[in-house]
Amino acid sequence: MTTEELLQWADDIVFTHTEKHLDSVQTAILEGAWQGLKYEEIAKKCHRSKSHIKNIAAELWQTLSELLGENIQKANARSVLERKAISNIYNYGSSSQIITSNINSHISICPENRQYPEDARNRSPSNSNSPSSQNQPTIIDLTEAPELTDYYPRPTEESTLKQWILEDGMRLVTLYGLSGIGKSALTVKLIQDIQTEFDYIIWRSLGNPPPFSTLQTELYQFFSQSQPNPCATLIEYLRSFRCLIILDDVQNLFKSGEIAGQYLAEYEEYGKFFKQLAT
Ligand SMILES: Nc1ncnc2c1ncn2[C@@H]1O[C@H](COP(=O)(O)OP(=O)(O)OP(=O)(O)O)[C@@H](O)[C@H]1O
Ligand SMILES: [Mg+2]
Repeated sequence: MTTEELLQWADDIVFTHTEKHLDSVQTAILEGAWQGLKYEEIAKKCHRSKSHIKNIAAELWQTLSELLGENIQKANARSVLERKAISNIYNYGSSSQIITSNINSHISICPENRQYPEDARNRSPSNSNSPSSQNQPTIIDLTEAPELTDYYPRPTEESTLKQWILEDGMRLVTLYGLSGIGKSALTVKLIQDIQTEFDYIIWRSLGNPPPFSTLQTELYQFFSQSQPNPCATLIEYLRSFRCLIILDDVQNLFKSGEIAGQYLAEYEEYGKFFKQLAT
């Protein structure tokens, strides 16, 4: 793992929890510690006093220790961070308690919108339209979802997602994080746990995104297949039933190198759909 990757990883963890990126002094401290520099030398490099650097470093080690569940000091910072980063990214399949205690730092979950309580009741499975209220089984299409074999629990994220989706009525939730960190796996596990709460569940991969109209037609057909009296529009289904739609690899809709939310011209319709869902 290169120093840049490790710094990025550390920044990612800190940002996830504090919503602040590492600043230049904190970055210099990490780099300096990894190069075996003394505080005095780090201080010289960033034109600060030694005591200032020591104070900032103490806070940084404290923060990282709390986030990673292990005592981190200047002397062990590189080895611990590297071990945690590699464990989180590559070793899900091996038995390791590191993963369960620390992986939570890694996937960021973002509630995009809150459903009004009144609304949530109208859309709950107790809605008389809803097949689940008539004891009909959930209709599920997971043909595009990855298979889940060994799974190490991520209790914090699982319970947060359940709370937001089932209790708080969030209509849109975004999971973001480094590639390979387990976003898709977490979602498959979540579906296993909450599927009975929904009338319909469908997973679509946007690895190679179709135009929105194609997805819209597919979703509409999926919902219509079991309905003697089909709804007029896709949104009508989403209003009348408990529908869980997972769109994986959504990043492909966006321009690369831009701030999130900059859709590629051909995918702007997706943006409108997400707004419609949220509002
Ligand atoms: N909690 C977990 N327990 C066991 N294996 C896991 C876990 N999370 C992820 N994995 C495994 O790690 C690999 C990468 O996970 P996954 O595909 O979910 O990552 P991702 O964050 O969705 O990546 P990408 O951003 O590239 O889509 C997969 O082989 C997956 O089975
Ligand atoms: Mg994925």
